Amino acid sequence: MQADSHFYEPKDGHGLAHDPFNAIVGPRPIGWISSRAANGTLNLAPYSFFNAFNYTPPIIGFASVGAKDTLANIQQTGEFCWNLATRELAEQMNQSCAAVPPEVNEFELAGLTAAPSKLVQVPRVAESPVSFECRVSQIIRLASAGGVETNTWLVLGEVVGVYIARHLLRDGVYDTAAASPVLRGGGPADYFEIKPEMLFRMYRPGQEPR
Ligand SMILES: Cc1cc2nc3c(=O)[nH]c(=O)nc-3n(C[C@H](O)[C@H](O)[C@H](O)COP(=O)(O)O)c2cc1C
Repeated sequence: MQADSHFYEPKDGHGLAHDPFNAIVGPRPIGWISSRAANGTLNLAPYSFFNAFNYTPPIIGFASVGAKDTLANIQQTGEFCWNLATRELAEQMNQSCAAVPPEVNEFELAGLTAAPSKLVQVPRVAESPVSFECRVSQIIRLASAGGVETNTWLVLGEVVGVYIARHLLRDGVYDTAAASPVLRGGGPADYFEIKPEMLFRMYRPGQEPR
């Protein structure tokens, strides 16, 4: 039986108290992106229109809704780092989203340490237990179904270097929940924290362990 549904066409508005889109497509992992302007200014900002898109080579991407400092920096240098936002670092992650002029270094603003990277000129967040060094692979301006260009850019980057705090490795297996990652829900303030009790296992058909 089909559920009684609230249907809407986004172009005409959702007709609800809050736009449900972000709450439905959620919780989303957070792309906590560090970048560096050509003049050397460091930048750090969270992007929850973020995900992983390929294994080999590993490719991650995030969407800049509007042309923001992170996008400008990556267009200039072709490099960025991704840093894992954990429950412990949630407040600092949030502070790093402040709408401040490009010359403001959000590492300093949020009281975070910039750790040098090995393969790119962009530093990582030293306090974060997992970071990726990335080289941009594509920057795509998104368009509507009708081909109308939007003011949003999808930035895709190849992960060329990976740092994992050793305490998150158990017998060589990365323990997702041990890092207490935070993910973004909907509304103005909803977040979710990943905890070990949320884990369940389900193998693909035919791939069950014997
Ligand atoms: C949890 C979180 C997720 C966010 N996700 C996005 C996003 O996906 N895309 C976007 O354009 N802005 C997003 N923002 C807002 C940006 O972080 C904010 O505009 C920031 O100032 C951009 O920084 P920049 O200009 O230094 O790049 C998000 C903010 C928060 C707190």
